[in-house]
Amino acid sequence: MFRAKVNDIEIAYQIRGHGPPLLMVHGFPLDHSMWRFQFEVLATRYQVISPDLRGFGQSSRGRAPISMKQFAHDLAGLLDTLTITQPITYCGLSMGGYIGWEFWKHYPSKIHRLIQCDTRSAGDSAPMARGRRQMAARITEQGSQGSILAADTMIPRLFSPQSAQATPERVSQLRDVIASSNPQMIAETQLALASRNDASTWLPKIQIPTLLICGELDQISPVEQMQTMAEALPDAALEIIDGVGHMAPLENPQKVNEVIRRFLWQTTTSC
Ligand code: MLT
Repeated sequence: MFRAKVNDIEIAYQIRGHGPPLLMVHGFPLDHSMWRFQFEVLATRYQVISPDLRGFGQSSRGRAPISMKQFAHDLAGLLDTLTITQPITYCGLSMGGYIGWEFWKHYPSKIHRLIQCDTRSAGDSAPMARGRRQMAARITEQGSQGSILAADTMIPRLFSPQSAQATPERVSQLRDVIASSNPQMIAETQLALASRNDASTWLPKIQIPTLLICGELDQISPVEQMQTMAEALPDAALEIIDGVGHMAPLENPQKVNEVIRRFLWQTTTSC
C-alpha cells in the first residue's frame, strides 16, 4: 500500500497501471481489498487507484466529521496529491456509489464517466435511518466487540446463497475485513449514511456516460431501484449480473470485469 497526506488524514491506497485514471471506491464497512479481482485486470489498460476511505482499512480517521461529502473531498484531495489532472472514471460500490454522487456534484470537472455498482440514489427512509441509529448505538455499546456484531449482522445480506456456497472463503475474508474495522468508525458511518443526501433529483443532470451494475439478487440495492435510476440518468446502461447479490464484483468477477471493460472501451471515443 502507498500512503498520502490528504486533508487531515493519511490515505492508504493501491495504484497500478498506465492509461486513463480509474478510481475504485469500496463499500461500507469494507476496504480496497473488495476490488482485488478487478484491480490487476483493469490495470492492464488503465491507471487504477483503489484507496481505503478515511477511518477504514489502513487509512487514518482524522478529525473531520464523517459524511459522504467528506469522503468525496478526501478522494478529490488524493487525486490532487497524485497530480491526476485528467478527468477520471469513478467506480463505486454501494456506499462508494453514494460518495460517487457527491463526487460528481462537487467535482464535475474531475469526472467524465461513472460506474455505480449495487448502489442507490435515494436517501434512507425514516425506518431505515432509525434502524441505522439503533445499530450504531448497539455497536458502540459493545465496545471492541462492536465490529463483530456488525459483521454478523451484515454478512448474511451481502452474498447470494449460491455465491456463499460456491466461494465460502470470499465470505469469510469479507467477514474478517468488517470484524477488524474500527467499531467507532462503523457506528459513525452508520449515522452519516442515515443522514446522507437523496441524490435522486440529481440524476437527470448527470450527463456523463454511466454504467450501473446490479446483482440480480441484491437485497440492499434491488434491481428495480437500479432500473429506476437507469431511466432517470440521461446516458446510462444497466447490467444485471445473474445469480449474485450485493457484492457482484466479488461474487462474479469475470462477468463484472467484462461489463466494465466493455463500457470503458465503448465510451473511450466519446470522452
Ligand atoms: C454498502 O455496501 O456500502 C452498504 O450496504 C451501504 C448501506 O448500508 O446502505
